[in-house]
Amino acid sequence: MRLLVTGGAGYVGSVVAAQLVEAGHEVTVLDDLSTGHQDAVPEGARFVQKCITEARDELDGMDAVLHFAAKSLVGESVAEPGLYWSNNLGGTLALLDAMRERGVGRIVFSSTAATYGEPERSPIEESDPTRPTNPYGATKLAVDTALTAFARVRELGAVSLRYFNVAGAYGRYRERHMVETHLIPNVLKVATGERESVSVFGTDYPTADGTCVRDYIHVSDLARAHLLALAAIEPGEHRIYNLGSGTGFSVQEVISVCREVTGHEIPAVVGERRPGDPAVLVASSARIERELGWKAERPALRDIVSDAWQALSGKA
Ligand SMILES: NC(=O)c1ccc[n+]([C@@H]2O[C@H](COP(=O)([O-])OP(=O)(O)OC[C@H]3O[C@@H](n4cnc5c(N)ncnc54)[C@H](O)[C@@H]3O)[C@@H](O)[C@H]2O)c1
Repeated sequence: MRLLVTGGAGYVGSVVAAQLVEAGHEVTVLDDLSTGHQDAVPEGARFVQKCITEARDELDGMDAVLHFAAKSLVGESVAEPGLYWSNNLGGTLALLDAMRERGVGRIVFSSTAATYGEPERSPIEESDPTRPTNPYGATKLAVDTALTAFARVRELGAVSLRYFNVAGAYGRYRERHMVETHLIPNVLKVATGERESVSVFGTDYPTADGTCVRDYIHVSDLARAHLLALAAIEPGEHRIYNLGSGTGFSVQEVISVCREVTGHEIPAVVGERRPGDPAVLVASSARIERELGWKAERPALRDIVSDAWQALSGKA
């Protein structure tokens, strides 16, 4: 297929673009490089440096769009909500209009666990209430809502994948956020000497060791789900799938595994809880397993951390 990958110079988009090229698809990456890196665009993919609001001319002859481009820092979204609404919702609406104009009827969208907010139960299912607690999650939920409406009236075929905590690396493709808020890369940066210690926010949560529990999905497993979603898209239908590995690991467990994998002592500094951090966030991925036959192949935390470490330390 001929595919447009928005945000394909970023972490997740570059891994998916690489897998799409490997699968024989003709890939164009469109990215404004606001948080991405041009050298993350895989060999074999065409690269266009543009904003998603200017995607129109790149859509001619495309079979589908995989839409990763977004701002995704929760704290920044609280401080600058306008940036998030205009980039994530406004930008996506412009992209959807351009797709209609150019006759592109299929889209896979990067949604997030942040659409659910504070969960009522664990694991979280797609039918659970969506009550985002920050503008980032709200903009992603707004896109999901728009996709459902557009699928009905425009014969658009859409799949939203709600990622939980994406981690690990795929060969040389790794997490390189300019502002890194994710736990595993930040812990590993202590082992490389880029950071002195890792912060643990709260040790009095109602969990086994008192630290927050999160569901980590290997970026390679996540990427594979995009290829399955692409093949399953039906015109007039919007499907939503959670993507996690179904198991929660605490902050303390993540730090321990990073110590084992790197052989570094990784000092941890305990701080106060952060406002709005739920104790446990774990996905039920039963729906995508049942409907698309997806299954996590590398769910073990040790594999996720080892792959991230290999790529970060230049051994991948
Ligand atoms: N990484 C995670 O754990 C995670 C979890 C849930 C959801 N997501 C979602 O997955 C997607 C990818 O996340 P990531 O971690 O790879 O982020 P990333 O910042 O590495 O990648 C996003 C890419 O989009 C580009 N971009 C942003 N705005 C753009 C615009 N207006 N026009 C063109 N390009 C633009 C950036 O330059 C960057 O290359 C995002 O939509 C994010 O919200 C990520």
